[in-house]
Amino acid sequence: MSAGKPRAAVVGAGPSGFYTAGQLLAEGFAVDLIDMLPVPFGLVRFGVAPDHPKIKNVTRVYEKTAAHEDFRYFGGVTLGEDITRKDLLERYEAVVYCTGTSADNRLGIDGEDLPGSHAATEFVAWYNGHPHYADRQFDLSAERAVVVGNGNVAIDVARMLVLDADELAPTDTADHAIEALSKSNIKEVILLGRRGPAQAAFTNPELLELGELQRADVIVDPADLELDAASEAWLASDEADATSRKNVEILREYAQREPTGKSHRVVLKFLSSPLKIIGDEKVEAIEVGHNRIQAGEGGALRAVATGESETIECGLVFRSIGYRGRPVDDIPFEPKRGLIRNVGGRVCDDAGQTLAGEYCVGWIKRGPSGVIGTNKKDATDTVARIIEDRDAGKLGVPTAEGDPIDFISERVPHFTSWEGWGLIDTHEQGLGEPQGRPRVKLIDVDEMTSIAAGAARH
Ligand SMILES: Cc1cc2nc3c(=O)[nH]c(=O)nc-3n(C[C@H](O)[C@H](O)[C@H](O)COP(=O)(O)OP(=O)(O)OC[C@H]3O[C@@H](n4cnc5c(N)ncnc54)[C@H](O)[C@@H]3O)c2cc1C
Ligand SMILES: NC(=O)c1ccc[n+]([C@@H]2O[C@H](COP(=O)([O-])OP(=O)(O)OC[C@H]3O[C@@H](n4cnc5c(N)ncnc54)[C@H](OP(=O)(O)O)[C@@H]3O)[C@@H](O)[C@H]2O)c1
Repeated sequence: MSAGKPRAAVVGAGPSGFYTAGQLLAEGFAVDLIDMLPVPFGLVRFGVAPDHPKIKNVTRVYEKTAAHEDFRYFGGVTLGEDITRKDLLERYEAVVYCTGTSADNRLGIDGEDLPGSHAATEFVAWYNGHPHYADRQFDLSAERAVVVGNGNVAIDVARMLVLDADELAPTDTADHAIEALSKSNIKEVILLGRRGPAQAAFTNPELLELGELQRADVIVDPADLELDAASEAWLASDEADATSRKNVEILREYAQREPTGKSHRVVLKFLSSPLKIIGDEKVEAIEVGHNRIQAGEGGALRAVATGESETIECGLVFRSIGYRGRPVDDIPFEPKRGLIRNVGGRVCDDAGQTLAGEYCVGWIKRGPSGVIGTNKKDATDTVARIIEDRDAGKLGVPTAEGDPIDFISERVPHFTSWEGWGLIDTHEQGLGEPQGRPRVKLIDVDEMTSIAAGAARH
């Protein structure tokens, strides 16, 4: 049991929280994992596309971590609302923030707030049944949607917009989203990249999947694959990565394809930046400026406006241009980058001075990029700093007496324990089973909490 062990509070039960918890347990810490939602797994549950169920099997690794005798879960406890940073520092030798980056970047153009213009973050959270986004409305009555951005999230959004009802039915897509998407009128999705094919941030399997959609042709203009000299030179150089080279190859193959007459289309347009979203009361069109690639300082290939533009009629615009962190409580925050201020995972103040006993891991530490596994290595890096600090006697020094469970229970009497999550999990899977789905997600926090209430809290 945990008596005599140093205590760590890990805040955020996404991949970085679980990898951190697992590694701290292995180092002899007792770990309390805290999440604002009763249900764990962060973006594995609320980000990963529902038609990619195998990716979600990573939660089995996290379940093994949770089975450790020195692990406890406190779901439904929000740092900054129910408990404070000070509360944690008073009770734990190490506090690790793994809170992710749930806000979105903005384009900063006219019309961005018109009805019909949304952040991809909201759409993704909505179709994945995140309780805070379940009541969002997306008007899917238009025939064309535009997705700004050339990353994997943009691909997820485009794919979800053109999946057939038959393809959605066996997934754990939230019921409200299945209903809305099944009635959707969207026939064409245009993905806009501000730079060229060689600079797209897609990974190869995700780009390949766009070419295998059941009811959508993928359309690429061959002219877009006539690369500028700087991109050609970069691709041929040692600096180019294999993913970018392969992306260009895949896109060249797409550019040669003839549309097969499928009912839907996903169109990839490059060197195109949104200038203005147009409409009186809702989105009616988007004005897009054309770019060319120019080598900037240090050889970076940047998009530069040519001055030409076009207007594309559409009823929906999703900006999928990256996530950003939100400041929590008085944890030092870098507003420009949208991250916790840190040096190699040690939280630091404005002067760069590290603060005893405070750490961070994952997207809130290094920014919103990288796949699930990237956070494992990231956790290893921060945990190594924690161990260095432990060995040097530089962890935090708790001042409050007693087991932290008492103060958490006082603040949030209905918190969800790991056993409580087990009851929710079984309930959701039970609802899904007769429909041939992995689960039917609950979207109401009160319902989750009342199902979890039947479990022991230790
Ligand atoms: C749409 C999308 C799809 C993706 N698909 C894939 C994929 O298919 N494959 C892949 O490998 N990677 C994928 N990724 C990347 C992967 O999801 C991330 O690398 C990973 O989730 C980041 O982990 P994290 O723990 O830092 O953040 P998160 O997963 O965001 O976890 C943060 C956790 O902190 C909690 N939290 C936040 N604030 C508080 C607070 N104040 N108090 C308490 N708790 C709080 C949240 O509830 C959440 O559970 C995807 C990302 C996105 C955005
Ligand atoms: N299946 C999967 O494995 C999967 C699924 C989803 C997400 N993920 C991962 O999650 C991470 C986040 O994905 P993401 O798609 O959100 O981010 P991302 O990979 O960083 O892509 C962001 C895209 O937005 C563009 N962009 C940024 N600002 C812009 C602006 N003002 N105007 C126009 N375009 C702009 C970027 O272009 P520039 O390059 O020009 O800046 C880039 O194409 C990535 O590491 C991704 O691989 C993985």
